[in-house]
Amino acid sequence: MPAFTASAPGKIILFGEHAVVYGRPAIAAPVSQVKAKANVTADPKGTPGNVRIHAPDIGLEASLGDLPADQPLAAAIQGVLTSLRVKRAPACSIKVSSTIPVAAGLGSGAAVSVAMIRAFSAFLGHPLPDETISAMAFEVEKLHHGTPSGIDNTVVTFTKPVYFVKGQPIETLRVSRPFTLVIGDTGIASPTKASVGDVRAAWQANKAQYEAYFDSIHGIVDSARSAIESGVIELLGPLMDANHGILKKIGVSCSELDTLTLAARKAGALGAKLCGGGRGGNMIALVSKDRAEAVAAALKKAGAVRGIITEIGK
Ligand code: MEV
Repeated sequence: MPAFTASAPGKIILFGEHAVVYGRPAIAAPVSQVKAKANVTADPKGTPGNVRIHAPDIGLEASLGDLPADQPLAAAIQGVLTSLRVKRAPACSIKVSSTIPVAAGLGSGAAVSVAMIRAFSAFLGHPLPDETISAMAFEVEKLHHGTPSGIDNTVVTFTKPVYFVKGQPIETLRVSRPFTLVIGDTGIASPTKASVGDVRAAWQANKAQYEAYFDSIHGIVDSARSAIESGVIELLGPLMDANHGILKKIGVSCSELDTLTLAARKAGALGAKLCGGGRGGNMIALVSKDRAEAVAAALKKAGAVRGIITEIGK
């Protein structure tokens, strides 16, 4: 049986994180500079049915049967077997690797699931369509996040900028003028499940206030969509600043994210905000192409462990 390899990129949320869990829209885009990769090879000497999973990045080396059903990598593989009604897979080995920082708001969990589902279904002779891959990765996301919106699995599966509303068909976004972002990593691991859970508790304690925050974010997302579609990119900077301000009020920023967003603006960024679950992880800054290196350097000076320059809509 031939070997199969598949990969999936990281993602950033440009506008609308957290509010998207509560039915508001969000805008997200793939980040191809980082990716997860899965490689499936037949193991001719192995026992039929034995699927080995190697994920050296997280120190995992195990047979599918020895992993609990709610282990995310096992759940992704089991999902493929169930969906394709395969009772006994050919003996094989699945190697997973990723350059996407974990628990950093860049969609590493979703990318690993998508790469594994894509490679394993192709190995079994039935490559699954993107809609099915995304839906299966969403089921795994629930193990990672508790109550995910589905935006991460959608963006990393379809690898296009999207305007996303939970439960609605995917709407890809027309970017009339490509724009440049610098992604700055605080280096602080912050599982999305925790920040999403805390926001839910705060929302339950004060629904009127949180619904108002989410409505304000909705307005920002729709203005950002018009700016992106009409190519008036300059408008995105103040919208990012405003989105960051509300995320701060919601309680998902932290001093390191505030420091990095401030440093980016001081170095000439047009706007900046945290990106993803928050409380650590990454932030993004909108820059003119010629300021990108300077802003990335300023972020490193202000404590970022990594800076990625990426172009949206190229
Ligand atoms: C995580 O990338 C974005 C959140 O809005 C959670 C979600 O949408 O599932 C924080």
